[in-house]
Amino acid sequence: MTPFHFKKNIGIDLGSDTTQIYLAGEGIVVNESSIVAFNNQTNRVIAVGQEAKKMLSRTPAHITALRPIVNGVIADFDMAKEMIRQFLKRDKLPRSLLTQVVVSVPTNLTEVERKSVEDLLKETGANRVYLIEQPLAAAFGSHLEVNKPTAYLIIDIGAGTTDMAVISLNGIVVSKRLKIGGSYFNQEIIKAVKDEFKLNIGGPTSEEIKINAGSAMPQSEHLEIMVRGRDISTGLPKEIAIKDTQVRLWLSRSLKLLVDAIKDLIEITPPELVGDVYKNGIYCCGGDSLLRGIDKVFQKEIGVTVRIVDEPLTCVARGTGIIVENLDQYRHLLSTFSHSKLANL
Ligand SMILES: Nc1ncnc2c1ncn2[C@@H]1O[C@H](COP(=O)(O)OP(=O)(O)OP(=O)(O)O)[C@@H](O)[C@H]1O
Ligand SMILES: [Mg+2]
Repeated sequence: MTPFHFKKNIGIDLGSDTTQIYLAGEGIVVNESSIVAFNNQTNRVIAVGQEAKKMLSRTPAHITALRPIVNGVIADFDMAKEMIRQFLKRDKLPRSLLTQVVVSVPTNLTEVERKSVEDLLKETGANRVYLIEQPLAAAFGSHLEVNKPTAYLIIDIGAGTTDMAVISLNGIVVSKRLKIGGSYFNQEIIKAVKDEFKLNIGGPTSEEIKINAGSAMPQSEHLEIMVRGRDISTGLPKEIAIKDTQVRLWLSRSLKLLVDAIKDLIEITPPELVGDVYKNGIYCCGGDSLLRGIDKVFQKEIGVTVRIVDEPLTCVARGTGIIVENLDQYRHLLSTFSHSKLANL
């Protein structure tokens, strides 16, 4: 049986789209949308997670559904705190103040932003909070041998950010973060549907288009999706068909920005490590790495083998889990990427 104190430790991936909580000794016990719905007259939270997601873009005037994490950063501290508090009430999760938390954060956050993550978790009951950069957590979660003297390039394409880093000897050597991810792709689709079809659609519909008819490269089968929205000229409901060729064109500018960023990152990587990256390949994770053919586009443009890791949606949370289950082994590493509260270690 797992020792009692061991079960207190948790890993958290606090994502712009999804929050996952990993309970040491158990695995991922919470996998929820990072959304809060509240009554804006009383400020009372009505729903969090998937329940709140159903309300997004469909709320009456007195209810607001919002995402408290934007581009990987806490945008609404109080709502984020309430959301985590509700998630932590789930079965199995510790209520004790002895909880030690390893939380993943985007690279290149300011000290204020890092401190805000730590404060958030302390205020929801964590005793100690350790921060780990998302690409490094993803590497652990993907079982890459990042402890070796060789380099890996990891790209986490999430909803709010694309975070990329060259990792060697358990540490980040160079990194880059862009505010371009799945939500940005969805916005590009909303704009294009409005321009080309004179149709207003909401966020959930644009996400459906991306997931069901989106691709970065031509696929063997042609994809098409029927979507409904409001015709701008008549103001009436209308249904249209959208083809994969159209979505590909709408996403091409964003993909080019990602490719340019990967090239920039390689440019600032020390030459020996560039050689390692060439040999080891590039690894992609995050929900939007599931966009069909995105690996092929990167491979064609960069000239290096590109792989999508297994279970790309959960690798960051599983990485925080591996760290938290082996805190004694990794604590000394955490001190190199957590600038916070080192005196307590
Ligand atoms: N099959 C799919 N094809 C394309 N995109 C997908 C697919 N499945 C999920 N996504 C996208 O994945 C994103 C969510 O991924 P993920 O959970 O990695 O983001 P996040 O960690 O919450 O965000 P971030 O790390 O940027 O804060 C959403 O933008 C969603 O639309
Ligand atoms: Mg993420």
